[in-house]
Amino acid sequence: MTSKELRKRFLNFFKQRGHKIIPSSSLIPLSSTVLFTSAGMQQLLPYLSGEKDVVKDFGTRHLASYQKCLRTGDIELIGDDTHNTFFEMLGNWSIGQDEKGEYFKEKAINYALNFFCDVLGLKRERLWVTVFSGAKNIPPDKESFEIWKKYGILPSHIRSFGMTDNFWGPVTKEGPCGPCTEIHYDRGEEYGCGYPDCGPNCPRCQRFVELWNLVFMEYNKKLKTKNSYNRTIALKQASESFQYEKLPQKNVDTGIGFERLAAVLEGKPSVYETDIFWPIIQEIEKKSPVNYLQQKRVFRILADHLRAIVFLVSEGVVPSNLDRGYVLRRILRRMIRYSTLLLLKGVWYADCLKRIGEYYEGIYPSLLQNEERVITVIENEREQFERTLQKGMKQFKKLIEFKLKNGKPKIIRGEEAFELYETYGFPLELTVQLAQEKNFSVERENFWKTFKEHQEISRRGAEKKFGGHGIEKIQSKEEKIKITKLHTATHLLQAALRKVLGSQVKQQGSDINEERLRFDFSFNRKLTGKELKEVENLVNEKIKENLAVKFDKLPLEEALRSGALAFFREKYPSVVKVYTIFNPETKEVFSKEICAGPHVRTTSQLGHFKILKEQSSERGVRRIRATLE
Ligand code: ALA
Repeated sequence: MTSKELRKRFLNFFKQRGHKIIPSSSLIPLSSTVLFTSAGMQQLLPYLSGEKDVVKDFGTRHLASYQKCLRTGDIELIGDDTHNTFFEMLGNWSIGQDEKGEYFKEKAINYALNFFCDVLGLKRERLWVTVFSGAKNIPPDKESFEIWKKYGILPSHIRSFGMTDNFWGPVTKEGPCGPCTEIHYDRGEEYGCGYPDCGPNCPRCQRFVELWNLVFMEYNKKLKTKNSYNRTIALKQASESFQYEKLPQKNVDTGIGFERLAAVLEGKPSVYETDIFWPIIQEIEKKSPVNYLQQKRVFRILADHLRAIVFLVSEGVVPSNLDRGYVLRRILRRMIRYSTLLLLKGVWYADCLKRIGEYYEGIYPSLLQNEERVITVIENEREQFERTLQKGMKQFKKLIEFKLKNGKPKIIRGEEAFELYETYGFPLELTVQLAQEKNFSVERENFWKTFKEHQEISRRGAEKKFGGHGIEKIQSKEEKIKITKLHTATHLLQAALRKVLGSQVKQQGSDINEERLRFDFSFNRKLTGKELKEVENLVNEKIKENLAVKFDKLPLEEALRSGALAFFREKYPSVVKVYTIFNPETKEVFSKEICAGPHVRTTSQLGHFKILKEQSSERGVRRIRATLE
C-alpha cells in the first residue's frame, strides 16, 4: 500500500464514521507560547479544554485530520529508523459529551483496531499495547486493559507504564492532558535485542515501533507558582508545583505517526525507504560518489532536514538567531555540514526539491511554488556559515601560533575545542583533523565534559516554551555567546581602568547587548585620548595573553576579604560566585569580581576590544561604550 493510499483510507474510515475532516493547521501555531505545531490536537486546544463550543464551530464533536508537525527534541536521533524532525500526524477526536454523540475509551480503541486490522490488514498478533500504570493520584487505566483484551489483544502483549510513557500533555505547562494507551508494532525478532523482557519502549532495541497514541483527555494540569526575584543574580527563580484537576469534559485525542505507519505497510525497514523519502534519497545518490548503503545515516539526515527546511521556508520562517529562525538555522547548518560528508557540490538538492514538491502536490499544493525561495535561503545560509567557519580557521591559527610562540604544550584544551565548536560551528572531528596537521593533540574527553556542562546549563537556563514534548524555546546561542564575551570584556575593562586611572574607579552600572557593552564607573573628569588608548591596549594585551577565567563559590564575607570587587547596588546572597581572570602559568591575577557570570573560559576568543565612546553619565560618573570586533 502506498502512503497516499494510507492517507486516503484513514480519512475515509473516519468520514464514514461521522467525523468531519479538518485541514492541517500551519506549522506556526497561533499561540506564541510554542514555537511549532507538534501534534494534531494543537489547533483544537480551546475545544478540548471546553473553552469553545466544538459543535458550534464544526457542527460535530467528531473530527479527523492529517497535520504537519515539527519536533526538534530528538534531533540527534534523526537517521535511525523512525524519527523525523518534520512529520505528519493522522488523528481523530471526540470532543466533549452530549447525550448521543460522544465516544471515549471503548469506541476509540475499537476504531483503532478496526482501522489497523480490518482496513490496513495488520496482524493482531503483531500489535502490542501499553496502558497507564497510575501515578500522582491518577488511577491506573484498568478499563483500557480490559477493552484491549476484549478485542483480542493477548494479555502478554499489554504492558503498563507511568507518566513518562503513558500520560500525554499538556502542550505547554498547563492545559488538557490525560492517560494514554499506545499501539506498538512488532517488527520482528530480527530487529530485537533477544532479552526476555523486550517489548514496547524497550531501552535496548527498536524491535517495537510506536504507531498510534490514544489519549484520554480528562485532566487539566494547573500550575501553582511562587516567584522570588533575586536581583543580584538576575535570575527568576520559580518554584513550581502542579495539580491535576478533572476537565469539565472528556475527550479522545489520537495521533498516528504517518511516516512510521507507511514504513510498516510498505514493508520497509525505516521511514526513509518509503515512497515519501526514497525518491529524495535516490536523487542525493545520483549527485554523490558515496552510496546509500555506505552512509545510510547521513543520507537519511539530509533527506529529513531538507524536507523540514522546505516546509519551514514555505511557512515563511527565515533563518535567524532567535526562536523559529534559529531552529531553521540549526537544521540548515546541520544539513550543510552533513552534505560535505557525501561530497555534495553546488545546488545538489535541486532535484530533491522537485521530488518533495511532487509528493505533496494536492496535499500541500503551495509547497512547489517555494522552490526558488528555498534555494535562496539555503545558499545564503551556506555562504554565511562558510564565513563563520573561515573566521574559525583564523581563530584556530591564532591559537596554534600563540601556543607555539610561547612554548606551550602542543595540546588544544577541551575548552578551546568547545569554543571553536560553539562559536564557529567546528565539529570536534574538524578540530582534531586540523590539530593533527600541526602535530597538536586535542583533549577530546574534556571537550565532551565541557559540552555536557554547557548543555546542562542551557537546559536549566532556557525558558521552556514547550513542556515535555520535544520543543522548547531555544535561545540564540550566538547571541548568548556575544553577550558572554562582552561580559568578560567588561571585567577586563574595569581592571584596566583601575590600573590606568587608579582604584577610585568603581563600577556604577553596566548594560550589555549583542552589539556593545556600556560601563559606568566613578571618576571625576573626562579621560584623555591617551588614557583611553592605554586602557584599550591593556585590555587587548590581556586578551592576547589568553588568560584563564574561572569562578569559585565563596561566602560573601570571604569573597570581600579576598579583594574581589563588588558592585554594591545589588543585594548579595550569602554565598557568591567570584570570577577571577588570571594567567594560568604565573597565576598572576588581573581581575577578580563578585559576579553571577556567565563568562568565557579563555580570553583569547574575545577578539579585538575597541572603545567606541567615553562621556559623562552623571556627576562623578563616566560612561564607556565599547565593543569586540
Ligand atoms: N496528542 C497525542 C500525541 O501527539 C495524540 O501523541
